[in-house]
Amino acid sequence: MINIEALFSISYGLYVVCSGDSQKGNGYISNTCFQVTADPLRIATCCNKDNYTASFIQKKGNFSISVLHEATIPEVFGHFGYRSGKDFNKLDGFEFEYGALDTPIFIQDVLATIECKVIQTVDLGTHLMFIGDVVGAQVLQDQPDPMTYLFYKKVKKGVAPKNAPTYVDPEKLKAQQQTQSLPKYKCAACGYIYDDAVEEVPFEDLPDDWICPTCGSEKEDFYKI
Ligand SMILES: Cc1cc2nc3c(=O)[nH]c(=O)nc-3n(C[C@H](O)[C@H](O)[C@H](O)COP(=O)(O)O)c2cc1C
Repeated sequence: MINIEALFSISYGLYVVCSGDSQKGNGYISNTCFQVTADPLRIATCCNKDNYTASFIQKKGNFSISVLHEATIPEVFGHFGYRSGKDFNKLDGFEFEYGALDTPIFIQDVLATIECKVIQTVDLGTHLMFIGDVVGAQVLQDQPDPMTYLFYKKVKKGVAPKNAPTYVDPEKLKAQQQTQSLPKYKCAACGYIYDDAVEEVPFEDLPDDWICPTCGSEKEDFYKI
């Protein structure tokens, strides 16, 4: 059994990931940025193949990560996380600098930035995982605390859009929650459990002469748990 809610307990930070150069670039919100090795210093990030930024990372072989904090203005999430740079120049109207690889780096009110050179790309089906050597890193401020996905969801009431690796189809989640809330019945004689979530016929709809498949007790010997 896979209870998708188990995955909700994995914690993440939130970042703006950019790629390109000083001529043209793009960026998106990511929760999948993580250090993979210390020596050499390497970072990985997972990017949906449909993200416009994925084409820049593949073409230019660079990406930057800017660490967001708890007071990051909602416009940053709206701009970089819910709209695609396929339709407009996403770098307009925000502050950027360009790193050692000419990578655009989002610097507007962020805690830290890291610039990476791609050394390996792993095809994960819907997403590409880019692994990069760190070529530059700077701390810009140390307050407020870094934005976590939990804070974003609980305090900011933000949800993950379809391209995020953590996206959950609300219909599937609802169906799972409904399944989990279905009742179970236990045989008082042998402890056999009749689980409405896995049986084809709900316990209440079983005929009166139905008997426990393990010990033969009658239906009325079952109680709801
Ligand atoms: C909270 C949050 C987390 C996200 N995490 C990821 C992620 O880890 N990987 C990803 O590919 N997209 C992620 N997304 C979705 C992209 O940011 C979104 O699809 C964006 O519009 C893509 O922009 P682009 O097409 O200009 O590259 C996330 C969005 C939000 C709001």
